[in-house]
Amino acid sequence: RAANVQISVIGLGYLGAVHAASMAKLGHHVVGVDVDTDRVEALAAGKAPFFEPGLDDLLSQVMATGRLTVSTEMSAVEGSRVHFVCVGTPQRSDGQAADLTYVDAAVEELVRHLGAGDVVVGKSTVPVGTAQRLSDLVATSRPDAALAWNPEFLREGFAVQDTLHPDRLVYGLPDGEAGERAAVVLDEVYATLLAEDVPRIVTDYPTAELVKVAANSFLATKISFINAMAELCEVAGGDVARLADAIGYDARIGRRFLNAGLGFGGGCLPKDIRAFRARADELGAGDAVAFLGEVDAINTRRRRRMVELAVEVLGGMVESAEVTVLGAAFKPDSDDVRDSPALDVAARLAELGAVVTVHDPQAIDNARAKQPQLHYERDLEAALAGADAVLLLTEWKQYRDLDPERVGTLVAQRTILDGRNALSRTMWTDAGWQYRALGRR
Ligand code: UDX
Repeated sequence: RAANVQISVIGLGYLGAVHAASMAKLGHHVVGVDVDTDRVEALAAGKAPFFEPGLDDLLSQVMATGRLTVSTEMSAVEGSRVHFVCVGTPQRSDGQAADLTYVDAAVEELVRHLGAGDVVVGKSTVPVGTAQRLSDLVATSRPDAALAWNPEFLREGFAVQDTLHPDRLVYGLPDGEAGERAAVVLDEVYATLLAEDVPRIVTDYPTAELVKVAANSFLATKISFINAMAELCEVAGGDVARLADAIGYDARIGRRFLNAGLGFGGGCLPKDIRAFRARADELGAGDAVAFLGEVDAINTRRRRRMVELAVEVLGGMVESAEVTVLGAAFKPDSDDVRDSPALDVAARLAELGAVVTVHDPQAIDNARAKQPQLHYERDLEAALAGADAVLLLTEWKQYRDLDPERVGTLVAQRTILDGRNALSRTMWTDAGWQYRALGRR
């Protein structure tokens, strides 16, 4: 059994809540701190403050062991030896750069409660250079404390699995004794994972910070690459799904993350590539990642194309057309609507005068808070009733499993737009549907 480490987790949003519960699952004693009272109350009751498969179960399990406690007071971290900083770094409202207000405030408050020899571990996604700056800040009031950077790669919908079975661990460490000490402590924290041969990459601060944004930039580029090919397929009469299968067999390319469609959204990829560009500009290396501007542009063009396609199938008569949008979350198995392509398309069609009804298995409350003018329907069959066009924009399993015959009896027009290339074209056309998709004839 691995050593039991006293851990604090500061920030109990997506990353922090999952990290705190997972560390308790590994056998550690964890105290989670967040300024948001509602969030802390929900967690204290063993409830995840957002939808994430497996998290409620994990929370009630670890809460019952007494190894996870939560608090709104930063002083609760006293007594912990390792402090994970998991607060958000959203896009700034006045531009593309990351907003570091929360990270800075959290660390400034945290240092007042640090004990001798404590280790502060940054997990938030930050512009390169932040770790060194925070390390200096920690050193001014606690010269015997150390700071490490340990980026997190979890995906929403698989967050628990990704945290307990990561592809790799990355330690960004300072030189010398402080770095060695931080590595020993992190090895204790992750002992169970290391025993399962999870690769561990030890490096300096800037590399660790860059690993995270490089990984997300690569993934965003891969998606936009296939979506650029979709644009070509549309004008040349090709089929991007077949193309993706064909190039994906090349092991150097690989089929994963080559699903063409509405493109990427969410709380990470869009803001991370923008913040990366802004930081590269500051460092005088803007040219090196200027292509990420193109990646972003390709991505937003897909949303426009989807709206055009909807207008086209409605014969240009969008005004008062009944449009059913399947999916509001930025991806399946999530209730997150941050920068959601689906919700964006729904809102644009409503602006053009369509009567848009949105269905989503989990994200309706979040979607309504963002786009209150749309109609929302929790019952799938009721949402489909009377539709002039159905748009599948987030590929939840229950949509992929829809029976075209059954749905055909509910709608006014058998017209379906598959924004995620998630349905079988032959099944739908055989059932008499007009089937249209992005990047396919
Ligand atoms: C991403 C990274 O994958 C993760 O490693 C990082 O820690 C945080 O950002 P996440 O935002 O949860 O995770 O979602 P992800 O599964 O990466 O999907 C991002 C977006 O890309 C979604 O909108 C998804 O629909 C879209 N996508 C994904 C595609 O359009 N095509 C694909 O082939 C894959």
